[in-house]
Amino acid sequence: MELSRRTVIAGAAAGIAATTTVGTAQATAGGRKPVKELFGRLADGTKVHRWSLENGGTRLKVLSYGGIVQTLEFPDRHGRRKNVVLGFDTIDDYVAKSPYFGALIGRYGNRIGKGRFTLDGKTYQLSVNDGENSLHGGAKGFDKRIWDVEPFTEDSDVGLHLHYTSVDGEMGYPGTLKAKVTYTLTRHGDWRIDYEATTDKATVLNLTSHVYWNLAGEGSGTIEDHELTIAASRYTPTDSGLIPTGESAKVAGTPFDFRHGKAIGQDIRAGHPQQVQAKGYDHNWVLDKGITARPEHIATLRDPRSGRTLKIATDQPGLQFYSGNFLDGTLVGTGSHTYRQGDALCLETQHFPDSPNHAHFPSTVLRPGQTYRTSTVHSFDA
Ligand code: GLA
Repeated sequence: MELSRRTVIAGAAAGIAATTTVGTAQATAGGRKPVKELFGRLADGTKVHRWSLENGGTRLKVLSYGGIVQTLEFPDRHGRRKNVVLGFDTIDDYVAKSPYFGALIGRYGNRIGKGRFTLDGKTYQLSVNDGENSLHGGAKGFDKRIWDVEPFTEDSDVGLHLHYTSVDGEMGYPGTLKAKVTYTLTRHGDWRIDYEATTDKATVLNLTSHVYWNLAGEGSGTIEDHELTIAASRYTPTDSGLIPTGESAKVAGTPFDFRHGKAIGQDIRAGHPQQVQAKGYDHNWVLDKGITARPEHIATLRDPRSGRTLKIATDQPGLQFYSGNFLDGTLVGTGSHTYRQGDALCLETQHFPDSPNHAHFPSTVLRPGQTYRTSTVHSFDA
């Protein structure tokens, strides 16, 4: 059913495009058919492509390597468009030193303690790449894989379907996992991510996107003046390896309280032991709404100077807010600027870190016959 509906709509959209504009790659309602170019090559010669998309005032450049969003532009209150995400100019920089800039993260967003978990009585040892822990899927996660990319235009939407099959045992994870991620730019300029996956053996899964935001513009300096609101009364404190202790602590009366919105810099130097340990914010907020059938609004990020505002809606139960603590002035990005600590932040919608080792956290288990489905919507405004 789903498939035939899509086919019909895609066909209709193509028909409209063909009768209105020929040769300019124009789709409907300001959307443009995604354009593909060669971005570079991996050391073994594998081609990496870059796709450019535009709709409703938002522009995206996406790489087939890691599903990386290299640039994302949208206008400020005066209509001035700027790139608001960190990234690199070359594939070599992404391969050599990217701290997950703009990438798809899998199989497991954030950390799994000691890179180990037990499922159905069997213990699995994962690739360990962050001290004694496994971070963002291990040494070669989804951020370092080549995805098959297929463009689409449908009604007034434009987008990309990204496919990757992770083989049984990859990075230590059980099951052949077929993942499909869809990036959609709507006619309102929203960027929607739909994740889908199936497995042939019981496994754990926690997919997310690791975009580094600076709404004043990539490379323009600190995000400490950005105002952030997170609809969460609790967060999950961590140990010194940034693994959740299993506790869910109240944000009230702590620097972790973003319920009413505040500048990120306001309490970032408050000396709370959890902040000292993480060098800032690098925690999972327990969203008050919990898991929902559809994406619900959970966070707003606003740059008061430009007016640029990002709103995030998700169906997921958690949000990892990372204040760019490990950016140390050694990376130079797309705008030829150096990235220093706090020059961007990440807002990763997800299940809680290390869930496979905490039975009381919402489950991240995926079994054969089930389809993993989750969606996050980024809306832009000024
Ligand atoms: C996530 C983690 C951080 C850090 C960054 C990448 O946000 O929580 O600790 O690893 O990714 O540097």
